[in-house]
Amino acid sequence: MTGSALTGVGLGLRWEFLDEVLAALDAPDHGARDAALPVPFFELSPENYMRRGGYFPAAIERVREHRPILTHGLTLSVGGLDPLDAGYLRALGGFLERLDPPFHSDHLCFSGVDGAFLHDLLPLPHTSAAAAHAAARIREAEQRLERPMAIENITYYLVPGRASLDEADFLVEVLERAGCRLLLDVNNVYVNARNHGFDPVAFLEKIPPERVAAMHVAGHEWRDDAEVLVDTHGAPAIAPVLDLLARAVARTGPVPVVLERDNDVPPLGALLAELAEVDAAYRRGLAAREARA
Ligand SMILES: [Fe+2]
Repeated sequence: MTGSALTGVGLGLRWEFLDEVLAALDAPDHGARDAALPVPFFELSPENYMRRGGYFPAAIERVREHRPILTHGLTLSVGGLDPLDAGYLRALGGFLERLDPPFHSDHLCFSGVDGAFLHDLLPLPHTSAAAAHAAARIREAEQRLERPMAIENITYYLVPGRASLDEADFLVEVLERAGCRLLLDVNNVYVNARNHGFDPVAFLEKIPPERVAAMHVAGHEWRDDAEVLVDTHGAPAIAPVLDLLARAVARTGPVPVVLERDNDVPPLGALLAELAEVDAAYRRGLAAREARA
């Protein structure tokens, strides 16, 4: 398995504050730049930048000059039944070549059927057959992209079909069959645990720590009408999610952690304040690991 030299807490790059990031990078020297932008790396979704001309490629290039960039895809549909989209994979491969991330991630889900793309991350049945199917497609995507992949655990509000495995066992079976690594979203673990009534810590303990390539942390919201937690990425991460992050980091050691925000995106300053809180939880996890060693 390929390792990543990136560690610490980075930020999901969004259009809403891209100009603020670029302005911070204009600081006169290294020290001033680090003070204005205390972010060790960024993560972006290629779908938001691929096949665009003008401003965006130049902006990303400028960010890449100063900070490593991880890539997180949205549309691979790794569990789908339609063949993987060859045109998409070709364009994605070219895009990744320029940014050269240590791995590319996407979600353990399906996003379409019979050629119709649903713009959603839909859950797979938690069965060995679905795990084998997804794993074969992860290997195929890795070959076509010529890059290792990490697969993210999603949130789901129902599990299709009759599950024969619990979510953690399903996830581990996919990772082992594919020989790939995990993008562990600790907010998704928390949201699913609350919605489906399982213990998030027991879930974490089933994940082989050496399989974790990176982690995500984000906020969610309670929906009164449906009586569920919804993974909105529209609020700061809550303390129990940060505690879960610390526990996960205590198991894995230093890995890249990404703060994601997709709705009600605040100005960069507010996100940096939240990033500092996530970083404190990350350091708590590392300290707990040291204390145990
Ligand atoms: Fe995520």
